[in-house]
Amino acid sequence: MIGRVCGTGSYLPIRTVSNDELSHVMETSDEWIRERTGIRFRHVALEETTSDMAAEAAARALKNGEVNADEIELILTATSSSDVIYPSAACIVQKRIGAQNALAFDLNGACSGFVIAFNTAQAYIRAGIYKTILVVGAESMSRLVDWSDRSTSVLFGDGAGAAVFELCKDAPYEHVVGVRGDTLIRVGGPCREQRMTMDGQAVFRFAVTTIPQCVNELCQKAGVTPDDVDWVICHQANVRILDASIRRLGMPAEKFYRNLDRYANTSAASIPLALDEMREKGLLQSGQRIILVGFGGGLTWAGVMMEV
Ligand code: ACO
Repeated sequence: MIGRVCGTGSYLPIRTVSNDELSHVMETSDEWIRERTGIRFRHVALEETTSDMAAEAAARALKNGEVNADEIELILTATSSSDVIYPSAACIVQKRIGAQNALAFDLNGACSGFVIAFNTAQAYIRAGIYKTILVVGAESMSRLVDWSDRSTSVLFGDGAGAAVFELCKDAPYEHVVGVRGDTLIRVGGPCREQRMTMDGQAVFRFAVTTIPQCVNELCQKAGVTPDDVDWVICHQANVRILDASIRRLGMPAEKFYRNLDRYANTSAASIPLALDEMREKGLLQSGQRIILVGFGGGLTWAGVMMEV
């Protein structure tokens, strides 16, 4: 038994902020940000809360999957930027979409959060506990970054993505995970004023080692080669991280989906946002083998290989 994604949805804040706009409030430039990261602009939640975005993405995923809210038995929201400690973002989603039969809780796996939640959903389905699960990744990173730190604040954006899983009798599925209790990326400080600090270059080295390692391990576990993989959807942090990983793997760059030029790093939301965008564009075809790779604060990493 396995859970198969039967519907996806996403939500992006209405307000976009370009690199040029940032250059009016801090010492930076469009050229520096584009060259070092590939980011052109990002969405910033001025009106929306993390829960607003999560609930909207969730409602769209239900609609896309033609699943009724009362069929959902579990809601997992991956976030490191919930509006309050409780009610959790997942509980607010539960109420907003009217999923009256669902248990709901948040999971904080930083930028790996969606893939960790994905694996958690699979574990519940494999154990025969639930058949229909909603997994959401939602972040308001603009509220966590220190806007006086130009080397970190320009990298992030806000948004949410969601996927509905339904029990399916037989489908290939592999996963890998890892944790290294390191503080290269940290969100800390007095309560309500927690801000992010990051050693960018060390995180870069961590990411370009972790992505190829995850892809290779997943292929080995599944008894396939990277040639047999149709798509790799990595956490969208930096185009140079993606390019270096692609070079190390020797895989065609076209197999790596990228959209971070428009969204920047949306942490736990980046992979479900990409999944939903790819579905909308008709890029995901039944039977394709895809890999998801998340990596980030913790440090954590998580990967899955599945069939669409
Ligand atoms: N605009 C202009 N100049 C800047 C900016 C900016 N926004 N930020 C830093 N600089 C300056 C620095 O002050 C430094 O100036 P100096 O040479 O006078 O001292 C210069 O640019 C070079 O700085 P570096 O830090 O060496 O730049 P680097 O090439 O390493 O790029 C970056 C920095 C983009 C952060 C890179 O290290 C990186 O992408 N790391 C990965 C970070 C990441 O993606 N993290 C997220 C993954 S995990 C997660 O998602 C939470």
